[in-house]
Amino acid sequence: MKAERKRWDKRFGKKEFALGKEPNPFLKRHIHLLPKGKALDMATGEGRNAVFLAQHGFEVDAVDISEKGLKKARKLAREKGVKVNTLLVDLDHYQIERDRYDLIANFYFLKRSLIPRIKKGLKKGGKVIFETYLLEHRTLGTGGPKQAKYFLKPNELFRFFKNFRILFYREGIFREGGRRKSVASLIAEKR
Ligand SMILES: C[S@@+](CC[C@H](N)C(=O)[O-])C[C@H]1O[C@@H](n2cnc3c(N)ncnc32)[C@H](O)[C@@H]1O
Repeated sequence: MKAERKRWDKRFGKKEFALGKEPNPFLKRHIHLLPKGKALDMATGEGRNAVFLAQHGFEVDAVDISEKGLKKARKLAREKGVKVNTLLVDLDHYQIERDRYDLIANFYFLKRSLIPRIKKGLKKGGKVIFETYLLEHRTLGTGGPKQAKYFLKPNELFRFFKNFRILFYREGIFREGGRRKSVASLIAEKR
């Protein structure tokens, strides 16, 4: 089994939700900016954001490499009385169908090779919402990944989507979800 899958299955294999049941605060605050329709939640984990999107009327595909995570996502969806379509995939190889989604969400998962696939998978006028750690997060000592490749460099997320219409962008240290974190957050529209 791939090491990533093993690692996350172990983390998500416990009864309690490792990443919580509440959606990401940036997603929650900006839900009104996002076009309703078909959504893809990349690396959904235990589904906190996918379920929130479904609660707001999106038809959601939620993909992840961890079956244990997806099982929790389905459990959370049942608890909230919504439906989420979970798909067990390795995003190293997954191809997103061209012009398929109105919204693609990417939270706390950084795989640079996916950026062109996210762009291709969005319909014209579709939006991407993206948030993950900046390199300086490592100085805060408040958790997060170990390897440098999982952190954004300054302005990197902005540059990824510079041919989109950037509707919202921020970088910095924020106290959200009960802890300090250094992140970049973006909402951008495919033209
Ligand atoms: C920090 S968690 C983020 C989960 C979720 N996006 C959230 O914000 O709650 C990172 C996720 O990436 C998934 N992951 C890691 N490598 C993957 C891969 N190659 N393909 C698909 N998912 C992967 C893990 O299983 C885990 O659920």
